[in-house]
Order: sequence, then C-alpha cells, then structure tokens
Amino acid sequence: MTDKLIIFDTTLRDGEQSPGASMTRDEKLRIARQLERLKVDVIEAGFAASSNGDFECVRAIAEVIKDSTICSLARANDRDISLAAEALKPANSGRLHLFLATSALHMEKKLRMTPDQVFEQAKLSVRFARNLMSDIEFSPEDGYRSDPDFLCRVIEAVIKEGATTINVPDTVGYAIPELYGAFIKNLRERIPNSDKVVWSVHCHNDLGMAVANSLAGVKIGGARQVECTINGLGERAGNCSLEEVVMAVKTRKDYFGLELGIDTQQILSASRLVSQTTGFVVQPNKAVVGANAFAHASGIHQDGVLKARDTYEIMRAEDVGWSANKIVLGKLSGRNAFKQRLQELGVAMESETEINHAFIKFKDLADRKSEIFDEDILALVNDESISQSNEQYGFVSLSQHSETGERPQACVVFTVAGKEVKAQSDGNGPVDASLKAIETHVKSGAEMVLYSVNAISGSTESQGEVTVRLQNSGRVVNGVGADPDIVVASAKAYLSALNKLQSKADRVAAQG
Ligand code: KIV
Ligand code: ZN
Repeated sequence: MTDKLIIFDTTLRDGEQSPGASMTRDEKLRIARQLERLKVDVIEAGFAASSNGDFECVRAIAEVIKDSTICSLARANDRDISLAAEALKPANSGRLHLFLATSALHMEKKLRMTPDQVFEQAKLSVRFARNLMSDIEFSPEDGYRSDPDFLCRVIEAVIKEGATTINVPDTVGYAIPELYGAFIKNLRERIPNSDKVVWSVHCHNDLGMAVANSLAGVKIGGARQVECTINGLGERAGNCSLEEVVMAVKTRKDYFGLELGIDTQQILSASRLVSQTTGFVVQPNKAVVGANAFAHASGIHQDGVLKARDTYEIMRAEDVGWSANKIVLGKLSGRNAFKQRLQELGVAMESETEINHAFIKFKDLADRKSEIFDEDILALVNDESISQSNEQYGFVSLSQHSETGERPQACVVFTVAGKEVKAQSDGNGPVDASLKAIETHVKSGAEMVLYSVNAISGSTESQGEVTVRLQNSGRVVNGVGADPDIVVASAKAYLSALNKLQSKADRVAAQG
C-alpha cells in the first residue's frame, strides 16, 4: 500500500449533475485546466455515453490535459464502455470508470435484475473494458447499502477480471464515519487480492458527513483514493469537498501520515472558478474557501493572531491561495499583460480577434472600476461567452428609468441569432422590468426559481455577479452575468440562462 492519497476530482461529472450546474465545453475545459494546475491526480471529465455533448467534452479534455489522468464514467455495458474508451483515446493517461448498482433496492427496483445477473454483468463489463484500457475503476453503485456478502462476491470477480481501482460509493449519503470506515476495512480483509487494487471512497453529503466519512474510509478503511468535487458541488447536498479533505489530510499529517500531490495554493482559484461558472455561491463560513474562513472579527482573536498567528489559525491563508487575491490589472495595463493573465488563469482564447474583443471589454471595465481582480477577469470572460456569435442570444445594451413613486421602465437591446432586437417593458423594479422586456420578445415561458446578486470583490465599487436559475420542461439551468451595473448583470445572466436552456441536450443521468 502506497502512502500517497490519490485525489480524484469529479466536479465535471458528479458535480455537474447538480441541478443548474451544467457547463459548456469551454467552461469545462477552463475548469479542467485549473484542476491540472491544482495537480489533481484524476479528473473525471464526464460521462461520455450520456450525450454527444458529454462525449465531446471528455474528448476535448483528454486532448488538452496532459498531467492528470482523464477518466470517463460508463455504465457496465459494451456501448457505454466503447464510447468512453473512444472519447479517452487522445489522453496521455486514461481511465474507464464502470458502475453498476449492487444494493438489493437498486437491483430490484431500478435495474430489475437478479443478483446473479448483476454479478455476471459486472464481471463481463470489466472483462470487456480491460481489452480496451488498462486503468479500470469499478463502482458498485449504492455500495454502502449493499449486502456485504454479495458485494464481496462482485468485487472479488471484478478484481479477477482486471479492475485496478475499487470505489465504494455511499451514493445516498447514508453512512456514519466509523461504520463506513469499518465497512471498507471489512471488504479489504475479506476479499482475496484486495491488496492488488487501490481502494477508493465516494461519499455524498446528505447528512453533512461526506468529508468525515471519506476521511474515515481512508484512516480506518485504508482507502488511498478520495473522490471529491470543488466546493463540494454535486447532486442534492453535494459530494465530498476537495478543499476540505485535502486541507484536513495536509493540516493533520501527524494523524493521517499521507502524501498529497496537490498544489494547495491553487485551491482558492479553483473554488472561485467553479462558483463563477456554475453560479453556485460559496457560503461565507465555508471551510477553507469561504470569505470568512480566515477572517477574525472578535478583538481577542485579532489580537491573538497579530501576536502569534497559530493562536487561532491552524492553516495559513496563503497555503490555499488567499494571497493571490490581489489587484492584478488596472486602467494602464496593456494587452500583453491582459493576455498573460488570461493564460495564468487558464483561459484559452482561440484567436487574436477573440483576445482583442475581450481586451476592449477589459478596458471598458477598467474605465469604470479602478481595481481589477482575477474574479473580475473571469467574470468578464464568462460574459464573453454569451456574446459569441454561435449563441442564440447576446446582450447589447440596456437603458432603464426608475424613480420613487413611479413604475420602472426598461428597454433592452439584444441579439437573437445575430440579429439585433429591442424590447421594452415595465416592472416592479428595474431588474424585473429588464427581464420582462427580454421575455416579451423571447417568450421562453421558463420559470425563474432563483435570482441572486453577489458583489464580486466585496465593495459597492465591485462588479455585481448575478445568478439566474430557470426551469423549463423539467430542465434547470443557471445563467451568470457580471457588470458594475447590476441591472445589466441581471439581463446578461438571464440571456445566458436562456442560451443554456436552448443548448442543453437531453442526457442520460448517472445515479448518485
Ligand atoms: O454516487 C455514486 O454512486 C456515483 C457513482 C456513479 C460512482 O456517482
Ligand atoms: Zn456520486
């Protein structure tokens, strides 16, 4: 058993399954680049067989990312496995991740298969996968609620067929730390050749214990891979949070005694990028990456920290990237500095024209805002994506009038398939009037299920970042827009959500 803990990030697969968190190909590529900078060992890039879009994303990430292993999820059938292997072809190092439910409940109600049929399918699917690739992970879905005897039978068989990693998902977040740790320990002790594979933990956060359970799986169970997501993004209450598990293992090395390959200084950038891309705001008191994680408000604490930092701090803010939160560019910065910062932030622009376009927007922003932070640049680039010509809707301009005692009026100019249209409406407030103006023309009929505004860099001078979540015909999408004017940011967010509603293809969902 190695003393290294493998960090397997599934933000782009399990994280994306969170309602409203679906990402475009470019957004996924940007996050994958940041995950590579963070030095995660394995990036689960998607579920290639679930849709053409997912196939393309896995393939694009496999083409670009060279330092991390790229993984695709696949159901345990030949078609899914072949598609995943095809998408992973360009990867330097690729992994197939097969899953098949093994709990009595899932087998009977969801799969409508007998345990013997599941056993056979698990075995044959790993045999098939092993002919295509050497790095094979197998997940007995809902593993923690499965009968241990049956689970041992399945896992023993898939190890014999050549699986190299065995992941034990707590798919519904039902586990308790000691019990989950003991569950994995028991499997490892009972299954022949268990020492020939890497054991992995995959915990959901329904009872708020995903990180605790994962750590118990490592410490008590002897797992050497943790599956996790940035900011704990994921379905329902989310997955195990990467930043928390990594900092726990690093800060308490005295207890865990494990090595990590992670460059922890990249954690904050990764957190911000995922939050800005998905519109899932990080709560201020979130461990490690929340705005208050290293803030000391009480006088006694402040005094203590000034005298000796470790009186109240167990980690250094710089170690997770907080010192990177600096003013990077301003009004006088040139195109080269801007281009270099884009590269450092992992933003790949395909042409010089695209960079020029973004640079004009940057100058425009710098005229209105003296200090430009990384978050501003990322928000600006995210905005760029909504004005791309291949998108259905793009923001052009907005004017509105509001006065105490009068009903606000708004006029929004935007493009529909490249053609400019002008729409007007009144509303309860300027934001309401602007969004109603867009809707009078688009007539999407979508229901707004969330509207939130967040100041990107903390002051009234900062850009407002707006998230709009729309629901239509069972589909949920988030749109994000940023601008120093929050009415404009709202209109951009609304158009971005409409674009996502348009383009989101029907896909097969992985459970869990
Ligand atoms: O939670 C789960 O069971 C999953 C599997 C597909 C690994 O995400
Ligand atoms: Zn999961």
